[in-house]
Amino acid sequence: MERRRLGGTDLELTTIGLGTWAFGGRWGGADDSESEAACHAALDAGVNWIDTADIYGQGRAERIVGRVVRERGGDVIVATKGGVAWDTSSGQLRIWREAGADYLRMALDRSLQALGLERVDLYQVHWPVRGVAAEETMGALVELKAAGKIGAIGVSNYDTAGLAAAAAAGPLDAFQVGYHLLRRDVEAAELPWCRDHGVGVLAYGPLAHGLLTGKMTAQTTFPPTDWRSASELFADDAFPDRVAVADELAAVARESGRVGGVAELAVAWVLRRPEVTSAIVGARHPGQVAEVVRMADRPLSADEDAAIAAVLARHPGASRHYGHGEPPDREDVEG
Ligand SMILES: NC(=O)c1ccc[n+]([C@@H]2O[C@H](COP(=O)([O-])OP(=O)(O)OC[C@H]3O[C@@H](n4cnc5c(N)ncnc54)[C@H](OP(=O)(O)O)[C@@H]3O)[C@@H](O)[C@H]2O)c1
Repeated sequence: MERRRLGGTDLELTTIGLGTWAFGGRWGGADDSESEAACHAALDAGVNWIDTADIYGQGRAERIVGRVVRERGGDVIVATKGGVAWDTSSGQLRIWREAGADYLRMALDRSLQALGLERVDLYQVHWPVRGVAAEETMGALVELKAAGKIGAIGVSNYDTAGLAAAAAAGPLDAFQVGYHLLRRDVEAAELPWCRDHGVGVLAYGPLAHGLLTGKMTAQTTFPPTDWRSASELFADDAFPDRVAVADELAAVARESGRVGGVAELAVAWVLRRPEVTSAIVGARHPGQVAEVVRMADRPLSADEDAAIAAVLARHPGASRHYGHGEPPDREDVEG
């Protein structure tokens, strides 16, 4: 599988990384043994890095990833995230953003403990937090890097002003952000900014969280325990239009002889941008990983690019900005 260097680091990431949000259970439940098997399947197929976060099941996903990495003798690049705090004392899960120095020091130690590792290759601040200076957040991370607990520093879901502030207090190595065929807003400013500043881009949600796999219909619904039941992406009046896009893209993929269908095309589309170091593809069981790995290494052709642009132009409403609701700092946010 092709590898691309992450920003100015010496990390050579495969162009597909395995995402583990679903391991935490907020996608309508999860099965730990399937999650573990999905990790092994991805690594066996040549994927060399895994993205996780402390908030994914409040340590559950990290414990699974750590078990797998330790079993395999540590030869896996591990990226985790901190910066979404939680409290379950009321019996309900309450979560909110944090990026203060003390908080991040505590969160990294807790992540290392859950992973059973002494260091992570990449540590990322999950969300920007208003009112916390970049110098404080980055200062803590630079210190943790000097202490050998972090190999590289990343941030996620920042805008260009936040990226610039983080880089100035940096060094900043990586930017993790949502980027897929139906969510292209980062093309205007964040991707060029990362190119100009040598910051690697890790694109999350390349399958539009399952929508760009060809398996959904306009009637698809999700159980209340699946975060997608409350997401505009799957629930607003443009949902049938998005499904139509997926169906038309499936036809483009068929014509190109892509056995991985619309999902393969969707990942190749994300990777057509040289700023993107790797696409983080989520999977909940080894079967999905097998499909995903087939997607690697066949670049998007100019004909496919043009055919995709034509599909998107026919459905302008499908790509309207839906965001993550831009929640205030102490509001429910997981991702
Ligand atoms: N930094 C952030 O704020 C943030 C936010 C989101 C994600 N992330 C990271 O990025 C990773 C990837 O994003 P994502 O998981 O949200 O979205 P994604 O990669 O676009 O979609 C993953 C989901 O699509 C479905 N799927 C995967 N392969 C499939 C296949 N071959 N056939 C049919 N369905 C398939 C699975 O869900 P179902 O089977 O349930 O449909 C899977 O959980 C996450 O796991 C996480 O590590 C980070």
